[in-house]
Amino acid sequence: MNDNNKYNRRSFIETASLVAAGFYVMPLFSSCKSDTPSAHPNVGTTVNSDFNANIDIQLKAVQSSTEILSAKNTATYSYMGTLIKGDKQTLQQLEGSALGPIIRVKKGDKVRIRFENEIPEKSIIHWHGLHVSHENDGHPEHVIGTGETYFYEFEVMNRAGTYWFHPHPHRKTGEQVYKGLAGLFIVTDDEEKALNLPTGDYDIPIVIQDRTFDENSQLIYLPNGRMDQMRGFLGNRILVNGKIDNTLSLNKDGKYRLRLLNGSNSRAYKLAWSTGEPLTVFGVDGGLLESPETLPYLVLGPAQRVDLWLDLSKNSENEELKLVHLPIPLDTMMSGGMMDGGMMSGGMMGNQSDDSLPYNSQFDILNVNVGASRKNDASLPDRLSNATALNPADAANRTSPRTFNFGMEEMMEWTINGRTYNGMEVADDEIVKLNTTEVWRINNGGNISTKGQNSGGGMMGRHGKGGMMGNNRGMGNMMQMPHPVHIHQLQFNIINRNSDNVDQNLWNAVKDGFINEGWQDSVYLLPGMYMDLVMRFEDFKGLFLYHCHNLEHEDMGMMRNFKIE
Ligand code: C2O
Ligand code: CU
Ligand code: CU
Repeated sequence: MNDNNKYNRRSFIETASLVAAGFYVMPLFSSCKSDTPSAHPNVGTTVNSDFNANIDIQLKAVQSSTEILSAKNTATYSYMGTLIKGDKQTLQQLEGSALGPIIRVKKGDKVRIRFENEIPEKSIIHWHGLHVSHENDGHPEHVIGTGETYFYEFEVMNRAGTYWFHPHPHRKTGEQVYKGLAGLFIVTDDEEKALNLPTGDYDIPIVIQDRTFDENSQLIYLPNGRMDQMRGFLGNRILVNGKIDNTLSLNKDGKYRLRLLNGSNSRAYKLAWSTGEPLTVFGVDGGLLESPETLPYLVLGPAQRVDLWLDLSKNSENEELKLVHLPIPLDTMMSGGMMDGGMMSGGMMGNQSDDSLPYNSQFDILNVNVGASRKNDASLPDRLSNATALNPADAANRTSPRTFNFGMEEMMEWTINGRTYNGMEVADDEIVKLNTTEVWRINNGGNISTKGQNSGGGMMGRHGKGGMMGNNRGMGNMMQMPHPVHIHQLQFNIINRNSDNVDQNLWNAVKDGFINEGWQDSVYLLPGMYMDLVMRFEDFKGLFLYHCHNLEHEDMGMMRNFKIE
């Protein structure tokens, strides 16, 4: 921590305790519209009696013990939910899983969450994808210690869609998620209800994660330390909804909505049906697409969600259908410089053991057993939604997008524009104006020759010096990593995905698996790729995060604030 960070931290604590002591102070992070119901100056420390919650949930993070593999229990963390107010469908604990609960709400609901931290380390919850104020966003500077409570109070302003929640303490997010802290936050609204989409037993959440266990059935995290951290955790088996048994028994003639979340720390998947049937996707991070899309396979990066349509009327009883991962030629690229004769081989990084599932192999994600016929009345219309996208022409900076280079500073640090996370720090180029629309160019080393950027481009960061590191391309060749980039607080539209500098072999393996339509909060940037995103800053001022959702990269500091003012 540098001085700046300490100062910020101290100010925050002082402000928080003044407020807790009942003094009225101008909130330090005056980030809410004063007429917003979620606006309250207590920074999470007390219940605001003026907030008229129709849903009230106690959510405890606890140490748990879960039977994941047979025989022996695995030490895990879990969120345990108790419904204080609301319909009983609001909260669904997942039986036999460390994950969950699933929280189901409607747009317009006023939600209070009493987060009680009972794990032996600091934590805070972030509501991934939700449009909430700074105080409700789970900023790492809002972490609470063991035995403490943080009160969230917000109105659900998002469209119907599959959002989720997970811890967000700096440097510990990866490990806490890995141990089991994550749940779905499912929003419905009138637009969605007017459609005849599958509900109840035909609406199935599927959280995909990779894990590695030792011979005592305990989770192993980053066994090779820094080396694994640089790459991001990759496990050797797949868990679905926190379970090792990835078989779903569904009914012939059923029409299903499969809500997929890639809840893995760093792994992306290239998903396909074993039958060769194309995938029908009708929703993404921020809800329903205008129209369903059909893809031969789908690339799902960390934190991304999709709605898949599955109609089992053409399948036969007792048929087994699989959702598989198809090979992506990424292993060599990601480990190339690190393991095979690059600067970091030998000494520092050498001798790692790695039995993680190779990207460039096929493995099963989900088995679907088709059982006896049971029809449901559901259909997938051609037109799902009227949620029109933002118009890039409305962006103040359309011709010179705000550019963020996701790359590497010096040898061993993942950075954004050459910087790493530093508490509440915000740089000049991270400040935006409320009620404006902007284009952001997020770049994973692909935009090397852009004018106006420093010569370092994506890989070198702010120094851009040659000597030790060689040129950009050299550095790129040494460690080329995908970066799954996520922006808090809003949903954006994708304008452009540029693959000119992506390795052709890699691009050919994945190019038909991306969805560029709809509202998204997380995108998967291949090495060499850049994307232009259009977004609008509305309703809340304050500090929000944007970061790499490779959780190990995030924990290493590939995360920054942007400020809406
Ligand atoms: Cu799901 Cu800041 O993250
Ligand atoms: Cu988020
Ligand atoms: Cu990253």
